[in-house]
Amino acid sequence: MNDQGSELDRKQRTLQEAIVARFRESFGDSLQVDQSLSRYTTAGIGGPADYLVTVSTAEELCEAITLAVRQHIPYWILGFGSNVLVSEAGMRGLVIRNRAQQVHYRHDGRGVILRAESGANLASLARQSVSRGLAGLVWAIGIPSTVGGAVVGNAGAHGSDIARSLRMATILDSDLKARDYRPEEMGFAYRNSALKRAHRGQGESDRVILAAEFHLQPAPVDELEARAAEIAAHRARSQPPGASMGCMFKNPEGDHAGRLMDQAGLKGLRIGGAEISSVHANFFTNHGGASAEDVRQLMSRAWHVVKERFGVELEPEVELIGDWG
Ligand code: EPU
Repeated sequence: MNDQGSELDRKQRTLQEAIVARFRESFGDSLQVDQSLSRYTTAGIGGPADYLVTVSTAEELCEAITLAVRQHIPYWILGFGSNVLVSEAGMRGLVIRNRAQQVHYRHDGRGVILRAESGANLASLARQSVSRGLAGLVWAIGIPSTVGGAVVGNAGAHGSDIARSLRMATILDSDLKARDYRPEEMGFAYRNSALKRAHRGQGESDRVILAAEFHLQPAPVDELEARAAEIAAHRARSQPPGASMGCMFKNPEGDHAGRLMDQAGLKGLRIGGAEISSVHANFFTNHGGASAEDVRQLMSRAWHVVKERFGVELEPEVELIGDWG
């Protein structure tokens, strides 16, 4: 290596050491360097994050973001890791694993308001609200997501979604100040929001969900439990267990991505360790040792086959993140 190269290397190492030291001041050993993300995604796929920090309160979440912004480091918030495909090259900068999960319930004139920090587990909240005799979130039984991830992706199932259930979201704006947003300010669409569009470079700069509030109404527990059992049974019957990213493509208007891929004979197709599930064709499972590239190739194959066969251009629901070269 020439002198210029080694000087650049030395500068980079010094910078990295300074960044690590600053993060360790605030987060101690919770800061991990060059940590593989495969154990933090539901598909079990993903290369390393330069830096990974796990936060357990909304205050820590704000602190990590503020530090990253001040040090000019790109950052990404990782929730349940269920709707993302992380590249093999991984993520540059800081990945913040959001485990801020404080929850509380309060009464208002119209029922009960559930307020949850953005790292709370949505499916657990749905279960909890059912056993408390509160209606409004039962559709979310079994959805593998944090509250924040669900709000960003406008998660939905069984005829409902976050857009219909949300009362308001507290968001850290790009000026690093928290502000409450009403649902109509969130730019919600089917499996989409203004925040998700921003990830794809189609909107204003990054904002982060800190907490969300849902309006719930008292209802008989046995009725809620019966509905929850139906939903869980539908999921168990129609969706594969094991490692996947959830639904790969959005449903096209008036149809189902899974039905189209099934009709096109794609079930069971494998590339490397990735497979189009024979239970539900919109789930791509990690059969063991699948790489991000295997999944991306499988997505591309399925997209082209469906386009050729039906003239439909499927839109990915799963976000491809990290360096893809
Ligand atoms: N179908 C097939 N073959 C398949 C899969 C489905 O023919 O391989 C048919 C089914 O027989 C049914 C129709 O397609 O007639 C719809 O199937 P399903 O009830 O499983 O619903 P979906 O439209 O495939 C949507 C959501 C799921 C959500 C379920 C249940 C999207 C992209 N998917 O799936 O959400 O859990 O409804 O409400 O909106 C997700 O968003 O990650 C997700 C999994």
